[in-house]
Parts: sequence; C-alpha cells; structure tokens
Amino acid sequence: MSVVGILADDEDPMVSVMKVEKAPLETYADIGGLESQIQEIKEAVELPLAHPELYEDIGIKPPKGVILYGEPGTGKTLLAKAVANQTSATFLRVVGSELIQKYLGDGPKLVRELFRVADDLSPTIVFIDEIDAVGSKRYDSGSGGTREIQRTMLELLNQLDGFDERGDVKVIMATNRIESLDPALIRPGRIDRKIEFPLPDVVTKRHIFNIHTNKMTLSADVDLEKFVMSKDDLSGADIKAVCTEAGMLALRERRMKVCQDDFVKAKEKALYRKKGNTPEGLYL
Ligand SMILES: Nc1ncnc2c1ncn2[C@@H]1O[C@H](COP(=O)(O)OP(=O)(O)OP(=O)(O)O)[C@@H](O)[C@H]1O
Ligand SMILES: [Mg+2]
Repeated sequence: MSVVGILADDEDPMVSVMKVEKAPLETYADIGGLESQIQEIKEAVELPLAHPELYEDIGIKPPKGVILYGEPGTGKTLLAKAVANQTSATFLRVVGSELIQKYLGDGPKLVRELFRVADDLSPTIVFIDEIDAVGSKRYDSGSGGTREIQRTMLELLNQLDGFDERGDVKVIMATNRIESLDPALIRPGRIDRKIEFPLPDVVTKRHIFNIHTNKMTLSADVDLEKFVMSKDDLSGADIKAVCTEAGMLALRERRMKVCQDDFVKAKEKALYRKKGNTPEGLYL
C-alpha cells in the first residue's frame, strides 16, 4: 500500500490567501485629489452593498463593478486599499498574474473558486489588480499558454454574468492599459463603469506633496512650490519617490532635517529613472 496522491481540500488554499484579514493602513485621507474618483467608487461599490434598497426604490440595477484605469502610479491600487480599509464588507484581493496557473484548467477553477468564496462571505468586494494579465484581447494563437489564459478570461466573463441574482458581490478591477483589454470584459452589463485616473494637476500635486512630507522634518529653506509648479509630468508615485529619496539623502549625511537641495537632487534622480535613463538634454 502506498500513498499515490493527496486529494485537494474543498476550498482552494489560494483563495483563503486572498482574503484580506488585516485592513490596509491607507485611508481616503492619504489620497491627494481624486475626489470624483472616490465619489464614483463609493456610489458604485460601497453604497449598493450598504443600501441596496436605494437602488430598488429608483428602479435601477446597481453596477456590478468598476474598472480603474490610468497611467502607472496614479493611485489606482491606493484607492482600492482605502476602500478595503473603510468597508465593512469582506475584501478579497487578487492580482491578475496569480490567476494564471501552471496546470491546465487550474486558472478557470481558481476564478470559480474566488467567486464562490466571495458569495459565501458576502457582502464582498473582489479586487482584481493588473487585470491585463488575463483580460487582454483574444487573438488566435496556437500556444497552450495563451489558450489557458483565454480560458481563465472566459471563466471570468462567465462569473461576471452569473452573479446577477446575488447582488452583494462587487468587483473592482485595475489596469494601466485599458485599450488592450477585451471589449467583452468591459461592455455594458459587465464591468461597465470606467473610472479614469489622470496625472495630478497643480492643486493635486501640492496636496500629494503635503501628504508625503507632513511627517518629514523639513528645514526652513524647503520650497515645495517650485516642484509643484514645474512642468514635468509627475505622478503620485513619482512625488512619493522624490520625498523618500530626499529623506534618504539627508539620512546619508546624518542630517536631522531635509533641505531644498535634497529635494532638487531627488527629483533629478526620480525623473532620470523615469525617462529610461536618458540624461536630460540628450536628444537621440
Ligand atoms: N493621488 C495620490 N495621493 C497620494 N499618494 C499617491 C497618489 N497617487 C499615487 N500615490 C503614491 O504612489 C504610490 C503608488 O500608487 P499606486 O500603487 O496606487 O499606483 P497605481 O495607479 O496602482 O499604478 P500601477 O498602474 O502601476 O499599478 C502609492 O502608494 C502612493 O504612495
Ligand atoms: Mg496598481
């Protein structure tokens, strides 16, 4: 007699990993700007879970979910974390690439499992980050790998259609390449609420700088206005990087205060990295 294999548990252990037990620390207060985005996500995701009767009264079906899109570093994941922090619903989080499994058929199974668990623990918010890993346009390809990704996607479409009756599961997806997504995924009736995350404007940049510097010890000569008003395209993530880098520079010299020069150097460094290491003023 020998053990030839061990039967899998009923509930995929992967899914229990997805459940966010500890609420993330990020709150709405940590988000600079994005007021209309916050409001939209509240109306589309939180309100229908908390007060479904409002939608019934008006006679419309609440949206099944939303997709957040925009350039990298504009706060999509940050906003989803704030929702998780705030909501009393169960929050499940997966990254698109985790849904792509090694073995044939495991990807679709995981998607089914995810929605089954979501249903069991409802009301639930399912957050699928970096959805482009599974949700890209379908194209003919012979390779087994892409076919498996497509099957995972089809199962996702199927699940999105399926949870019609049980209204207490909402889906949030995020991507920075919405144009590459399969139109079927974001057609009306599925994830049809699209929330764009633009690069911050001047007022928002100022706000984000304040958020990220308010715990730093700044010397009197620091003038953040110079960076706020500069013409460079800075995303929220870039601004955070500049502030952290400035702090590191001060730390390196064991200074207790961060000075203007640190910020200048930090910004140069952050932009240099962003432009793919082409030194400024070098036109090739
Ligand atoms: N509006 C904002 N206010 C404050 N901080 C921000 C904002 N946007 C981005 N950040 C900072 O940048 C970091 C990265 O942002 P986030 O992970 O949300 O980007 P993303 O939009 O998900 O990007 P990607 O598309 O690459 O996943 C955040 O942790 C936060 O510190
Ligand atoms: Mg993200």
